[in-house]
Amino acid sequence: MSKNIVVFGASRGIGKELVIQLSQDKDNHVFALSRNTDAMAAFCDKKNITFGYADLSSNNVHDQLNAILGEVDKIDVLINNAGKLVNKPFEELSREDINSCYQTNAVGVMYATQYFVPKMKNAGGHILNISTVGAFQGSVKFPGLSAYSTSKAGVVSFTELFAEEYKDTKIRMNCLCLGAVQTEMLEEAFPGYQAPTTAKEMANYIADFAMTGSQYFNGKILQVSTSTP
Ligand SMILES: NC(=O)c1ccc[n+]([C@@H]2O[C@H](COP(=O)([O-])OP(=O)(O)OC[C@H]3O[C@@H](n4cnc5c(N)ncnc54)[C@H](OP(=O)(O)O)[C@@H]3O)[C@@H](O)[C@H]2O)c1
Repeated sequence: MSKNIVVFGASRGIGKELVIQLSQDKDNHVFALSRNTDAMAAFCDKKNITFGYADLSSNNVHDQLNAILGEVDKIDVLINNAGKLVNKPFEELSREDINSCYQTNAVGVMYATQYFVPKMKNAGGHILNISTVGAFQGSVKFPGLSAYSTSKAGVVSFTELFAEEYKDTKIRMNCLCLGAVQTEMLEEAFPGYQAPTTAKEMANYIADFAMTGSQYFNGKILQVSTSTP
């Protein structure tokens, strides 16, 4: 059966690979969202991909989403994969540094998710949030990542709260806390570190979980990592 799938953070890294992999099934229609539309135009050239501008840190994100998805009644899968990283010692963080992480990773994800709930209520759907092992309670922590990882912890908590509030509907929400994946973001967080997992490999796992995971999981926070970090 055909599925409508939304991928946030689609312009590069894991999100770009998700769009490429999920669009290989002709029955899927993939909506690729981020701010860098030029980057998406370079690889979103298939009939079953629609790409568009959405800025999670903007107050207007519902309007931006409506411009792309206003005519689409049903969304089956939403992957909240976008992420904003700031890597700075705690005392050097400006209010804007902290704000930028929270506006995209926590406030933006919650506010954008509101837009999709009515499009999932009838047929049901799976919302998959992408967080980090650094946001998982009790995991090994690293200096410089307090703005980023605490904002990503917001989405961990959101997953449990949303699943409880919507447990009597057909909407499911889960969260994957990723370990190191070789992307530009990882290079900013851990310069010179070589991750054991490529963006393509992680996207392959996430795509499969997004399509099948809601059958057995709801409100679950799962670590997906073979390394530290
Ligand atoms: N790579 C890792 O080792 C690792 C580890 C743990 C968790 N993660 C998580 O996995 C996800 C993907 O990471 P990645 O490594 O692929 O990151 P990445 O290469 O930095 O890509 C991040 C994506 O998020 C989008 N984005 C950033 N700010 C946005 C905003 N305000 N509105 C809309 N989109 C925005 C970017 O697109 P635009 O700039 O075009 O908007 C980009 O497409 C993120 O949530 C990240 O936190 C990654």
